[in-house]
Amino acid sequence: MFVKLAVPGSLTNTPDTPTLRLMDKLSPESIAAGLGTRWLARPDRIYYYERTGSTNDEARRLALAGAPEGTLVIAEEQTAGRGRLGRRWLAPAGEALLFSILFLPPLAAHEAYPLTMVASLACLHAVEAETGLHPTLKWPNDLLLKGKKLAGMLSELGQVDDRLYCIIGIGLNVNVDFAAAPELRTQATSLRLSLSHPVPRLPLLQAILRRIEAGYDALRAGHSPYPAWVTHLGTLGQAVRVTTSEGSFAGVATSADPDGALYITLPDGSMRRILTGDVQGLRPFVETQGNS
Ligand code: BTN
Repeated sequence: MFVKLAVPGSLTNTPDTPTLRLMDKLSPESIAAGLGTRWLARPDRIYYYERTGSTNDEARRLALAGAPEGTLVIAEEQTAGRGRLGRRWLAPAGEALLFSILFLPPLAAHEAYPLTMVASLACLHAVEAETGLHPTLKWPNDLLLKGKKLAGMLSELGQVDDRLYCIIGIGLNVNVDFAAAPELRTQATSLRLSLSHPVPRLPLLQAILRRIEAGYDALRAGHSPYPAWVTHLGTLGQAVRVTTSEGSFAGVATSADPDGALYITLPDGSMRRILTGDVQGLRPFVETQGNS
């Protein structure tokens, strides 16, 4: 199902307390301060916008202009935020984490999927560490809390100077309260809604960035994120409806492989392997993207 959220900026901000607002203020300086990464989001690699079209688009522009690996593009608000499968991604200004990271991996395009595994695991573990909540992964790389969408990821590949670049864009509903579109609360959630109090974005962002750097370094050293990724993949064992460019079918999600493909067992016992598409849980909940 394609669900549209209200237009950007129409949802209320989260000015819960002056203290939180101060703690929550993002800036290139505050992001870099105490981050401790070696190559990701170093002070000269942070592009911060109050408002931009899409951080993925901005990261692509920077990639094509020769920006280094580990460039971070982050925005308080996007006017043309994009989700997977051509959907829109909308979030009220200042309430979500909306950012994209540029990677220049020594990989072929078909080998790049583990990068998104690294990013989704980094988000999952950072949310656990910072909030005590325990999200699961929905194939391919969404984060869910109790079956509702907490975060989504948009991975885009291209070439610059005969080299692969990969941009991973992450949208994480931190303090979104869906006040202007409460019907979305049946499908989407935020850390604030789950905890009943607002959550400071800066430490969470830094926790994610540190984990992405460590995970990417491990990947480059030959350690696959697949075992951890598949362990957290809540889609497995579920009855699902799959929609691909070739049509839609129902089955049970039985396994996933290190390339990120999902295997669906059909009612006649045959198996289908999918690499792109949309998967909706049929039981025990009907899950759809909440921000698009
Ligand atoms: C999805 O679940 O469909 C993926 C959503 C990805 C949204 C993020 S927000 C930051 C980055 N910029 C974009 O335009 N999209 C990604």
